[in-house]
Amino acid sequence: MNETAFSGQSFQAELGSRALFPDLETRVYLNHASLSPPSSAVREAVLRAMDGYAHKGMAWYVEAMESRDRLRAQLARLMSAPVEDLALIANTTAGILDVALSLPWRRGDRVLLLEGEFPTNITPWQQAARRHGLELLWMQAEDFRLDRERALERLETELRLGIRLVAMSAVQFTTGQRMPLETVGALCRQHGAEFFVDAIQALGIVPIDVEAMGIHYLSAGSHKWLMGPEGLGCLYVHPDAAERLEPNVAGWLSHTDAFAFLTEGAGHLRYDRPFQHGARMVESGTFNTLGACGLEASIGLIEQLGVARILEHVQAWHDAIEPELIQRGFESARMPDADGRSGTLSLHPPGPAPDWARQLARRGISCASPDGWLRLSPSWPNSIEEVPIVLAAVDEIMAKGLGNP
Ligand SMILES: Cc1ncc(COP(=O)(O)O)c(C=O)c1O
Repeated sequence: MNETAFSGQSFQAELGSRALFPDLETRVYLNHASLSPPSSAVREAVLRAMDGYAHKGMAWYVEAMESRDRLRAQLARLMSAPVEDLALIANTTAGILDVALSLPWRRGDRVLLLEGEFPTNITPWQQAARRHGLELLWMQAEDFRLDRERALERLETELRLGIRLVAMSAVQFTTGQRMPLETVGALCRQHGAEFFVDAIQALGIVPIDVEAMGIHYLSAGSHKWLMGPEGLGCLYVHPDAAERLEPNVAGWLSHTDAFAFLTEGAGHLRYDRPFQHGARMVESGTFNTLGACGLEASIGLIEQLGVARILEHVQAWHDAIEPELIQRGFESARMPDADGRSGTLSLHPPGPAPDWARQLARRGISCASPDGWLRLSPSWPNSIEEVPIVLAAVDEIMAKGLGNP
């Protein structure tokens, strides 16, 4: 048995079991695409880190550094990347800003964005555009769901006209549409564009292979499908792309041998040390150790189960509820092909989605309503036995009327 062990305690994840979430008050938790509750493994790891500092102060920092190294290796495995191409960052936004601020832009460079994306993957590019005179081009994320072939044709046309960078999410936060990263990445490579992926809605729930997908940059945060604490994330930078980045966001920890002046005696306090190579350049200052310990514990559980098995489990959950909801008048956004599906099942309900989310919350069911969709996002702890509970709540809401308590 491949267990995750911390300070003598061990935790075993089981598909469909909430045993590691003993205090979760929500009856059915369908909100992993928003924020995941911490498992016992995460809670224990964070407490252990806090206790480590409480008992040993600075002497515990070495253990924190080791946890960070293990975490980088775990994240690298999750996206099939070499560990040296990966940095730990504060959140998805930070990784996007790091790249947007560090690319040697030329005036008039064209950047292709998707309308309908979460703003995290828009605002930093808008700021870079304002500062460097870039041209932003827009396509509709929904076009990739409703007519994928035509959307890819349009993308290729734009690439032929010259695009510096394409930025998109691996999974759309509204509809759960898994984007055709492999095809887009190949097109970008073919036409000399760089490819940036926001993977917070994918990492830990759908397989990601940065090399096979032709990804140059990938940024993701910890608190959704990775089920770690907030305030932590990772940035992948392909070695070719790393060559291009300027050290515009570098800080004291970006230098090689950054600690030498603290540990090696006099004569090492210098400001001209070279910067760490590649992605690690963006690890610029003191870091969220508690979060890293928690995330390491959470990914340990995900690795026990395997991303492919978690996705399969979640698809079975979606399979069980989707036809029932369609029969009740809901319109599903789910992609017909398996490779377009993710952990999120989104639907247009009969009536306003926020009202549905509120009514379901009153009945102990947690879900979200981004941009008018009712978003159900179960993960590995969700059981198929929850499906009839959700359907009973839906029937009750329909019988009483959405406006009634
Ligand atoms: C696609 C996507 N990107 C990014 C974020 C969050 O970005 P950050 O980690 O910077 O808060 C979210 C949700 O909060 C999201 O759905």
